[in-house]
Amino acid sequence: MAKNKGQKTNDSHLKSKPLWAGRLTQGPEEEAFAFQASINIDKRFVFDDIKGSKAHVSMLGRQGIVPKDSAERIALELEKIAGEIKNGKLEIDSRAEDIHTFLETVLTERLGESGKMVHAGRSRNDQTAVDFRLYLKRAVPQLQSQLAATINTLLDTAQLHVTSVMPGYTHLQRAQPVTLGHHITAWCAALERDHSRFRDALARLDECPLGSGALAGSALPLDRKTVAQELGFKRLCINSMDAIADRDFVLELSGACAITMVHLSRFCEDIVLWASEEFKYIELSESWSTGSSIMPQKKNPDFAELIRGKSGRTAGNLVTLLTLLKGLPYAYNKDLQEDKEALFDSMDTLNACLRMFAGMMGSAKFNLKRMKGACSGGFMEATDTAEYLVRKGLPFRAAHGTAALIVRGCIEAGHKNISGLSMVELKKYSKLFEEDIYKAITPAACIKARDLPGGPAPKEVRRQIKILRKKIV
Ligand code: ARG
Repeated sequence: MAKNKGQKTNDSHLKSKPLWAGRLTQGPEEEAFAFQASINIDKRFVFDDIKGSKAHVSMLGRQGIVPKDSAERIALELEKIAGEIKNGKLEIDSRAEDIHTFLETVLTERLGESGKMVHAGRSRNDQTAVDFRLYLKRAVPQLQSQLAATINTLLDTAQLHVTSVMPGYTHLQRAQPVTLGHHITAWCAALERDHSRFRDALARLDECPLGSGALAGSALPLDRKTVAQELGFKRLCINSMDAIADRDFVLELSGACAITMVHLSRFCEDIVLWASEEFKYIELSESWSTGSSIMPQKKNPDFAELIRGKSGRTAGNLVTLLTLLKGLPYAYNKDLQEDKEALFDSMDTLNACLRMFAGMMGSAKFNLKRMKGACSGGFMEATDTAEYLVRKGLPFRAAHGTAALIVRGCIEAGHKNISGLSMVELKKYSKLFEEDIYKAITPAACIKARDLPGGPAPKEVRRQIKILRKKIV
């Protein structure tokens, strides 16, 4: 099993029976064996499996379940194996069934009888469950750092643009003026919730399943608490059957990935629109764009499109996992082996997309003139005109009606903005209008006035940015 580079390859495992052969006299054919193997997926767990086995075997030694010296020898050998895998001296054999089998076989090849002691009081069912949780406790914080880095890149851009006016849209129609800073901070608020979703899932999965055996624990005097502590878990799983059957943590994380990807997808949709000739709000750098093999003039937002496209696979992975679990009787079923590939794919996809999105956005240039220009002509100051009248004492419904009549009048008279009307004309709609209306309805004034918590006023967006930065450290 162990392929030692520079040494003769030991293929003895190919002729020997699998670890689980037990009462079976016949094993699967080669193709069938490969079909049910999972080594190419669960080899990601190699160091987690070694860590779990070391804690388990040390406990077996302390509890007198295996002789102390054997336990020590196994723990030392496991450490050696980890080192050899790290420095490339020992290669993980993809012909093995899974990472647990591979490591136990290497141990047994090297230590003989002692190697066979490591699995006392343990099943691959609790082993794969503990490996998965240990792995996620390492990998999810890395994903969170990437997410935090992406949020910070976006917040840097937002900060630069707290006074850069642009149209805010509803129904993809110009609605009210906002700023680019406000818009990008909106994205970051969503990503910060994603960040906290990972944190929540991590807190819930921080339970040690080891000692749950195949499903019903063990009659050996295992010390579950110390093992859990040594492995850095907060608590023990409360019920051995649940510990084996539970994959909620996979669903939660897959959900968190899918939601984050849907967020990225929506932002990318904004980018694709903004990069079009019709909007022309953003200029993606050449290194984050692609050309066309036929149309020489093209500069395509491929990265944004691909991130948007890849959100589909993370939604698919979530459905895969929900469907996988839906009909499973308690406790372990081999179906569960399918749990890893889907989550790994979602995590890898999200990680890559976060990096690409941050890179693309970090180097993008905004066409501020164009954005500002788009604030004129769509009567986005109509709501602020109505609110002006409310401030002067008019009930909102009446103010709304007056502003609507003004907009209609402007369109008929060919005015692009409400401020195109003279004071005499405005007074015809309402006596409450005074000279200060003209200053109140410039895009910048509309934005500055909307300074409630959450609003687009520059001072308020600066506050939002500060809060979001604090939340992700
Ligand atoms: N590779 C298996 C998995 O990931 C390990 C557990 C196998 N257990 C069993 N009883 N066949 O689920």
